Amino acid sequence: CGIVGAVSTRNIVPILVQGLQRLEYRGYDSCGVAVHAASRHAPHRGAGLQRARSTARVAELLQQVQAEHIDGATGIAHTRWATHGAPAQHNAHPHFSHGRGHAGATAGSARDAAGRAGDAQGKAGDAQGKAGDAQGKAGDAEGRVALVHNGIIENHEELSAALQASGYLFTSQTDTEVIAHLIDSHYSGDLLAAVQASVVQLHGAYAIAVMHKDEPHRVVGACAGSPLVLGVGKNGAEHFLASDAMALAGVTDQIVYLQEGDLADLQPGRYAIAGKTQGGASQPLTPAQRPVCTVQAHSGAVELGPYRHYMQKEIFEQPRVIADTLEGLEDITPALFDGAHPHQARAAAQVFAEIDSVLILACGSSYYSGCTAKYWLEAIAGIPTQVEVASEYRYRTSVPNPRSLVVAISQSGETADTLAALRHAQSLDMQHRLTICNVATSTMVRECPLAYITRAGVEIGVASTKAFTTQLAGLFLLTLALARSKGRLSQEQEAAHLQAMRHLPKALQAVLALEPQLISWAQDFARMENALFLGRGLHYPIALEGALKLKEISYIHAEAYPAGELKHGPLALVTSAMPVVTVAPNDALLEKLKSNMQEVRARAGTLYVLADADTCIESSAGLHVIRMPGHGGPLSPLLHVVPLQLLAYHTACVRGTDVDKPRNLAKSVTVE
Ligand code: G6P
Repeated sequence: CGIVGAVSTRNIVPILVQGLQRLEYRGYDSCGVAVHAASRHAPHRGAGLQRARSTARVAELLQQVQAEHIDGATGIAHTRWATHGAPAQHNAHPHFSHGRGHAGATAGSARDAAGRAGDAQGKAGDAQGKAGDAQGKAGDAEGRVALVHNGIIENHEELSAALQASGYLFTSQTDTEVIAHLIDSHYSGDLLAAVQASVVQLHGAYAIAVMHKDEPHRVVGACAGSPLVLGVGKNGAEHFLASDAMALAGVTDQIVYLQEGDLADLQPGRYAIAGKTQGGASQPLTPAQRPVCTVQAHSGAVELGPYRHYMQKEIFEQPRVIADTLEGLEDITPALFDGAHPHQARAAAQVFAEIDSVLILACGSSYYSGCTAKYWLEAIAGIPTQVEVASEYRYRTSVPNPRSLVVAISQSGETADTLAALRHAQSLDMQHRLTICNVATSTMVRECPLAYITRAGVEIGVASTKAFTTQLAGLFLLTLALARSKGRLSQEQEAAHLQAMRHLPKALQAVLALEPQLISWAQDFARMENALFLGRGLHYPIALEGALKLKEISYIHAEAYPAGELKHGPLALVTSAMPVVTVAPNDALLEKLKSNMQEVRARAGTLYVLADADTCIESSAGLHVIRMPGHGGPLSPLLHVVPLQLLAYHTACVRGTDVDKPRNLAKSVTVE
């Protein structure tokens, strides 16, 4: 989900909406904006807070805002990805507090009841929700506090019970609304003081932007556990808040990254930051100096070109982004991993010499790239490697090894679980931390002493493709760098590996030329409700990634198994309605894999095999073979994943799903 906020002397609604549009690709299910009407039309009188919310796209929110003539020079906006409470208009941010037992809140409650009915009854109910929203307009105008929030407030039930007992009426099922009422309850003429008093009561993660009806030229922000940046406007006349600098691209490149527990006070012509209050709300605020960084954030405006979807475009960009990764690469030195701020860190060369193992932490596709790297790191660099799903690692009691290199892999660099796992490792005294990340300005890159920035460019499709293959390329380079540090790689071997990497863009082009054959497979898959993916060794994580891609965008239930495990369970599922995709490179495990394929054939299962050019597996009844153009050796996972991406993509197209924004998923998951 995304936050944008602004204080200015001009109408900032277009900036707020454009900011939301820049964050749109990350996935959301509802959006909203609130402005202080008085901030523009009657600067010295309170004309109240106005808001518009929608469960449609940001473009529709813009139409709504224009139709209702909502404008103002102070405002906040949000895209929501539902955690607590269904994706419905009454749960969308900004949330208002109308004060204790206020009539506006009662109108809101009526709307909420209608909204709830709407949730239960689908479309018909949605109409009721809209009617309810119209009823609630009077209430909207009477809002005292307006607030947007990223994160999760874990003690919201307890806070909500206390606030309800003191007369606050809740109009949503979110955990967020409690913060708006809490701030209202602490308000006595100074919004910053009310926010300071409120945040100390919050348990969990938050980034918030908040306004009060009595202070038309002020937005206050606060964050802990969720990122928030402050944008310094031109001439210092206007200031902004955003959950990501990208939301402010084109507006300002002067960015202050707020730190854990910071409060930010924005007014036209001035801004102030206060650090975490030690010892509670009654303590005076401590002004904090935070550096202003010049950030050339990508505007996010990416052309689709001749492609139907961003995902297709990104699949086809893979030869180029891998070529970009290798550009200028003469030899493999640990310095490749020094990151953006080598002065802060001990150089990678020193760290690599000291470490005795690797611990990889990641989520989703990034986790599968980590699983692939484990095979490389152990086989080529001889380094014991553990790969953990970040959300598991952060909560379990593990045995920390201070000599381990902790590697966080993330496209966005903002995934809440990965970030928390990284901080957890740090708290366990694991100081050797490196991130492989696609966003140079992200929290993970800023927090890790060592970093490798993948060169995938902006990835818009929620289902990762080119970010995954560039992660693999980065992880292969890490393997070679560690292998060299450990004396496991001769210069000749390193040169041979580099040569194989340089061949990748061409090899990827040849794999992309298989698209027509995958379109033909997709016709079969689109009729199925289940699919099984098999792989062995290095290609087992690729089978996992293939199954994940199919699930994410075509909504077909897909599972991946190491082929040797077939006989221990999944074989019971094999029927003619269960296609079995097999990743079959010509490696040491091919003969074993062929036996596994026989097990499927003997049960009338239909096999779809991605075989290397030099394997003698031929198509026959129930056995569909696509022959890969060449053999990639240890780099073969980068090639074999591409047909699986194309299979998922074309299957989703046949089924007519929203490929780039699949239901219920977000690109960057900043809540746990
Ligand atoms: C979400 C995305 C996935 C991604 C995962 C991890 O679930 O939909 O595509 O793999 O997050 O994201 P990260 O940015 O940390 O790689």
